[in-house]
Amino acid sequence: MIHPVILCGGSGTRLWPSSRAAFPKQFSPLLGAESLYQTTLRRLSGEGFAAPLVMTAADFRFLAMEQAAAIGLMDAQVMIEPVGRNTAAAVLVAALSLASDPEALMLVAPSDHVIADVTAFHAAVEVGVEAARAGRLVTFGVPPTRAETGYGYLELLKPATEGEAAEVTRFVEKPDAARAAEMAVSGRHLWNAGVFLMRVGDVIAAFERYAPELVAPCRAALDSAAEDLGFLRLGPEYAEAEDISIDFAVMEKADRLAAAPLDAGWSDLGAWDALWEAAERDANGVAISGPAIAKDCRDTLLRTEEPGMTLIGLGLDRIVAVAMRDAVLVADMDRAQEVKGLVAELKAAG
Ligand code: GDD
Ligand code: MG
Repeated sequence: MIHPVILCGGSGTRLWPSSRAAFPKQFSPLLGAESLYQTTLRRLSGEGFAAPLVMTAADFRFLAMEQAAAIGLMDAQVMIEPVGRNTAAAVLVAALSLASDPEALMLVAPSDHVIADVTAFHAAVEVGVEAARAGRLVTFGVPPTRAETGYGYLELLKPATEGEAAEVTRFVEKPDAARAAEMAVSGRHLWNAGVFLMRVGDVIAAFERYAPELVAPCRAALDSAAEDLGFLRLGPEYAEAEDISIDFAVMEKADRLAAAPLDAGWSDLGAWDALWEAAERDANGVAISGPAIAKDCRDTLLRTEEPGMTLIGLGLDRIVAVAMRDAVLVADMDRAQEVKGLVAELKAAG
């Protein structure tokens, strides 16, 4: 059995106005009828998977529970982090909560990604299972298509072979632009998809070795966790854990890393241009969601989440238009990354 651990605490502001602090992108039906969180749960349920453990913030607990129940997963366990402390602490707490079975495998997955080819994903998990059982910390590696600086890179001993776990010689999290440009074309690097498969005991041992200062607060927070309306709320000691990602805290330092190659239409939907790429498009490259109409448009995304609102695009080229009841975004597709900064400015201005 694999224990899915779903990381559900972030708030992707680059997808504003669909993604908000109070309703982050993982809970929004960005592609199709279900949210990214729901498709993540589906991908990690069924034969071979135990009930999922969802790690999230207090504000999202009801959403997390309701959206799981809405797809028939009544046995999801939702654990509440009293304050956000990034992914290292969340993964460690999850591992500690499963510590009674150190041989068990846990699969850590972000809740805000899309994986178009679920069959290929499951095949990659199969490859990963073998390596994880042999004591490896298994990452999932996506062939890079650009010099992205927001990802982690897996340096391989030799080029990956489909269907085989590859030896990882180095993990480089969020490199600078020059380094990313080299690694993107080296043929020996893969992007880290942010999904990890490991034995519970190996996770705990890795933290004890590479990030020992996290262990005491996480253990204390779990020991003093309290049941709260069907949720498990971690104790206040959690606030003492360092705010650091698992990538920086453990993966960059660890040896025994392996990569399962993942060529499955993976996207982290970081911004609107990525969503446009992952969405269904017509022959002119137009993606439409909700009651929207495009006339003479090219390579454009039109989206409205308001049933009573019609959005019309006329003669647009590489434009993103997203209309919500209280906010509308109209942007140059090639400047989609800048939305995050704008939202921060909006927030600062009150
Ligand atoms: N429960 C919980 N608590 N979840 C969190 C927290 C937290 O404090 N912080 C972030 N998350 C969730 C996010 O919602 C997301 O699903 C996942 O953990 C990863 O966090 P991100 O903040 O999105 O990380 P990133 O995108 O900068 O980088 C990671 O993902 C890349 C691929 O998308 C790294 O693993 C990179 O190496 C990787 O390439
Ligand atoms: Mg991310």
